[in-house]
Amino acid sequence: MAETTHLDEIVARYAGRGCDALLPVLWDVQREAGFIDAETALSISRTLRVPVADIYGVIGFYSLFSDKPEGKTVIHVCADPSCGLAGADSVVDELCARLGIRPGETTADGSYTVRRSTCLGLCEHAPAALVCRRGEGECSHAPVTSSVALLDGSRPARAAVVGGERHVFFPGVVPNQTESLAQYGDYAALRRALFALTPEQISAEVEAAGLVGRGGAGFPTGMKWRFTRGAGGQPHYAVCNADESEPGTFKDRVLMEHRPHLLLEGLLLCAYAIQARYAFVFIRGEYPEAAAIMEAAIHEAQSGGLLGERIMGTDFSCAVEVRRGGGAYICGEETALFEAIEGKRGFPRIKPPYPTTHGLFNRPTSVNNVETLCAVPAIISNGAGWFRQWGTEKSTGTKLVSVSGHVRRPGVYEIPFGLRLRELLEGHCAGFVGELQAVLMGGAAGTFLRADEIDLPLTFEGLQAAGTTLGSGAVMVFNTEVDLRDVLRRLGHFFAHESCGKCFPCQLGTRRQMEILDQMGQPLPGDAERLCDIGLTMSEASLCGLGQTAAAAVLSALRKWPGLFAAGS
Ligand SMILES: Cc1cc2nc3c(=O)[nH]c(=O)nc-3n(C[C@H](O)[C@H](O)[C@H](O)COP(=O)(O)O)c2cc1C
Ligand code: SF4
Repeated sequence: MAETTHLDEIVARYAGRGCDALLPVLWDVQREAGFIDAETALSISRTLRVPVADIYGVIGFYSLFSDKPEGKTVIHVCADPSCGLAGADSVVDELCARLGIRPGETTADGSYTVRRSTCLGLCEHAPAALVCRRGEGECSHAPVTSSVALLDGSRPARAAVVGGERHVFFPGVVPNQTESLAQYGDYAALRRALFALTPEQISAEVEAAGLVGRGGAGFPTGMKWRFTRGAGGQPHYAVCNADESEPGTFKDRVLMEHRPHLLLEGLLLCAYAIQARYAFVFIRGEYPEAAAIMEAAIHEAQSGGLLGERIMGTDFSCAVEVRRGGGAYICGEETALFEAIEGKRGFPRIKPPYPTTHGLFNRPTSVNNVETLCAVPAIISNGAGWFRQWGTEKSTGTKLVSVSGHVRRPGVYEIPFGLRLRELLEGHCAGFVGELQAVLMGGAAGTFLRADEIDLPLTFEGLQAAGTTLGSGAVMVFNTEVDLRDVLRRLGHFFAHESCGKCFPCQLGTRRQMEILDQMGQPLPGDAERLCDIGLTMSEASLCGLGQTAAAAVLSALRKWPGLFAAGS
């Protein structure tokens, strides 16, 4: 009874709000009670005026929400490639044996539930887990050294590796420390913008710098801002995409954990350029630390008059809010992300219309990746020419890459575009653990390179010409000890789990692809052809980027190692 009253109080805090408060209230209830019970779902329905069926649709869509009781502590252990290589399966087996349950089950006394999870964005600290404790909240746990460490409540310190060159993103940054406002400074680029530059000049400078989106699609950032600003009427929205769920990608987490004010300043510059009074930072649910750091930084900036009403005493006002995802890779797709903020299941929308005219709440919106926004303050302070001193004509500036797997120093590296992949891996990352077999470029949605193909320059155009991709900068390294069929199997499970199901080619294709990959040890005649067929159908006919790239790694492996798929191999 006491618990129900307490949950009612939590829900009552959202009185007067609409559907867009659904994810925040579900998070509050999930954290407090460990699941969303029927009575509380009804109470949420009445408070937000959202049909109860929609609430269950949303709970079922996101993997971190549950409508059934689970263990007091729920442990999600990552099962994707980097953690798989680092022994995540043994961690799950050991944990389950110790607790006397199977993955997905809850102990008889209701203390623990153990789940396998998709990538937790902690690949450089693999193997990784997310621990959700009822009434206390979530915390990441990496590296997992033993199953006992996961149960005893300890929290290992994560020693971040932030390396490479330090021009744009990490100048003077101390690894493992969150930069405070006092250390960061008083948003000098925003000050310059508000007092000396028009919104059009901001977009023009960013366009002149040649900055293109770092979230994977590579759209010119200044142009996007110009289009959004040019779309009529108000309100406009600035959205930071911090969903970062691509297996092998973790640079945005490291940026948020180290340099929250750099991101806020970049977001405010975007908001000023597109004349938005509201901005959101949408952070994946599996990043509790980054979300807390961003919340604290917003508070700090607000106290310093750097965001909120009449910023720095000018006429420009902008409120910034953190929104947490509920555990769904598809919500990184920009229109699915809008749906999530609006309190719905993260189904991608059909484009056009594009977000620049019809985005969040159907209003003109600019959605930008964390790294993209973090590049902007330096561009505004130092000018487009300064940024262009690194890179090539088409790939300007520096890029963050997330390197994981069999290198001696996995971590986040800032590199000038044009650096050879070999220099990154053998130089910055201190070489390989074992003998190199393959590199997966661009994450789960990317393609493989063989060991003899790593002399490529890391530029958008160079990699595209070689038939591969930089994507959002994930570089996963595999030595000759690795059975690439196991890697493909894990990728197959990832896509089948994450397909939102809105369109058939992807809904059915990812499932069928997973089934074939699951039996790769004993392939049937024609399996390789079937994988090809499914892959091409998904690439051609899927509605959004998830389905269009769900077979990219498999198709590239088919081309590079046809023997992998031969019967008896
Ligand atoms: C399945 C899928 C997942 C995506 N995930 C992310 C993500 O986690 N972060 C991100 O910035 N962009 C992601 N994107 C790309 C976004 O749709 C969008 O292009 C990007 O946020 C725009 O920002 P940018 O121009 O700064 O790159 C994803 C796209 C797809 C299709
Ligand atoms: S391609 Fe996949 S993820 Fe994208 S809309 Fe279709 S089913 Fe959903």
